[in-house]
Amino acid sequence: MSKTSKIPIHSDDIEIVPINYKHNECLIDFKTEITELKSFLIEDALDNQKQKISLTFLWFYKDQLIGYVSLLNDKINLEGNLKTYFKEKDVLYKSLPALKVGRLCVHDSFRRMGFGRLMVIFVIQKAELIGNTIAGCRFITLDAKRNVKKELDSIYFYKRMGFKVLKGRKKGTIPMYFDLKID
Ligand SMILES: CC(C)(COP(=O)(O)OP(=O)(O)OC[C@H]1O[C@@H](n2cnc3c(N)ncnc32)[C@H](O)[C@@H]1OP(=O)(O)O)[C@@H](O)C(=O)NCCC(=O)NCCS
Repeated sequence: MSKTSKIPIHSDDIEIVPINYKHNECLIDFKTEITELKSFLIEDALDNQKQKISLTFLWFYKDQLIGYVSLLNDKINLEGNLKTYFKEKDVLYKSLPALKVGRLCVHDSFRRMGFGRLMVIFVIQKAELIGNTIAGCRFITLDAKRNVKKELDSIYFYKRMGFKVLKGRKKGTIPMYFDLKID
């Protein structure tokens, strides 16, 4: 795959739908080097949705499945610098509400074309919608997967998208957050 094969992405060609049983066939063709992200999609995504654990949005581009993102609720425990930051603002809660990106993956053949960025914008819009119309939501959280291959190390991607490191490495992942309120 070429490293930067940017093509103009027309929003009319994108369809975003929550996963359902009718998608089973197209999931098989989804290609990612990260085997855990493929097995989650095939084995767990729909079941987790039925159990109300996470909601998985499938992304189709020109009718081909090119990515998915799974969302669930979360919170951030305020510790260290974050605790100090909020204390200075008289926010003394032990934790604050968040929307978590459980999984996010772009099909190998569609990486570095801008879809990951669009997916993060989609998540930010969902978090804003929740925060403005349903329930408080201050952060987006996720555990960025590390990879020895730099092009697959998602920490650089999330930093590029404005996420910050929450704390150090946890079993091959780095907890990160995005603050939805800009002072
Ligand atoms: C990480 C991932 C989601 C990025 O999606 P993508 O569609 O390839 O990213 P985009 O093309 O939208 O890139 C957005 C920006 O991030 C940069 N970027 C993307 N991946 C990067 C990487 N590994 N290292 C450095 N920068 C990266 C792009 O260069 C681009 O920068 P720009 O603003 O200068 O143009 C995708 O590569 C992927 O699915 N990887 C495997 C699964 C994974 O690790 N998921 C995250 C687990 S939580």
